[in-house]
Amino acid sequence: MAVLITGGAGYIGSHTCVEMLNAGYELIVIDNFSNSKPDVIERIQKITGKTLTFYEATLLDKEMIDTIFSNHEINAVIHFAAYKAVGESVEKPLMYYQNNLISTLNLCEIMDKYGVYNLVFSSSATVYGNPDRVPITEESPLRATNPYGHTKQMTEQILQDLFISNPMWSIASLRYFNPIGAHESGLIGEDPTGIPNNLLPYISQVASGKLPHLNIFGDDYETNDGTGIRDYIHIMDLASGHVKALEHVLVTTGVEAFNLGTGKGHSVFEMIDVFEQVSKKQIKYSIQERRPGDIAVCFADPSKANHVLQWSAKRGIYEMCKDTWKWQTQSGKQLIR
Ligand code: UD1
Repeated sequence: MAVLITGGAGYIGSHTCVEMLNAGYELIVIDNFSNSKPDVIERIQKITGKTLTFYEATLLDKEMIDTIFSNHEINAVIHFAAYKAVGESVEKPLMYYQNNLISTLNLCEIMDKYGVYNLVFSSSATVYGNPDRVPITEESPLRATNPYGHTKQMTEQILQDLFISNPMWSIASLRYFNPIGAHESGLIGEDPTGIPNNLLPYISQVASGKLPHLNIFGDDYETNDGTGIRDYIHIMDLASGHVKALEHVLVTTGVEAFNLGTGKGHSVFEMIDVFEQVSKKQIKYSIQERRPGDIAVCFADPSKANHVLQWSAKRGIYEMCKDTWKWQTQSGKQLIR
């Protein structure tokens, strides 16, 4: 069974490739390395002891996608390839709409041409915007608040319309909460270019001495300690969610959204505390104004994925921080080409 993975060298894509190879799937991976490095592909194969077929290509090149589908008997697609930086999307909305939407349209057009109707789409809990209540169920209203989030919400709409047009389609949109951590080998992990935007990569670089201190964006939220609460999920739990979602789309038709989260929320101070324990380093911080667009509390109701996909997150924040630290300190990240 051959599965095409778009954006397979990226953070979530690479960990999913590991889980997919371990589950016995044949993989065709495409990535244009816009936010990843070629060495990741070698490391995926090193971790699993298995090989995959790789194409350096962009989904904006429709002829190339056509060639890949004609070269391989592809049964299903897991689609990650997209831009994902919220701030950049506000500054360059056209770049985000152009890349994220046109890529998906091209991909779906070629899938339709080759009669491949099984798709797992990489969405985000960002589609919920500022939720009315937590835990967030899949029925919560969708109201993304920035161009990046809009591309995810619009893509989910496009996929629903596709299914209405042709009931052969079988699609799962996976709405991720806050993926952190790394593969336990320390060989692959999140490798943000420049100064990280997200909490855990930032904490990890403070612990390693690369950055002087963490800026905490607000300690006056209505939460237990005043800092923002999020549903952090271990990247390998997220990866196994993709394998389960793929198994599901292969035996059903329809279009469904699933929350992938742990169902538990943790504050910024809790994360600092656990990271200090695993790294044995002090995380210096400074309290700043709230970050525009941030919400106080966000965590999933993952019960739909628990029941329908027979999937649940297994790892807690200690393991998430431990594996992030291992990746930060032992990965030889600087070797990545
Ligand atoms: C952010 C994005 C979201 C995206 C998600 C995953 C924004 C407004 N939201 O979500 O759309 O889907 O990343 O990529 O950018 N924090 C600090 N200091 C920091 C960084 C973060 O205090 O340097 C706090 C935040 O205020 C928040 C928590 O840590 O309370 C988590 O932040 P982050 O990791 O950026 O994730 P989200 O804000 O949930």
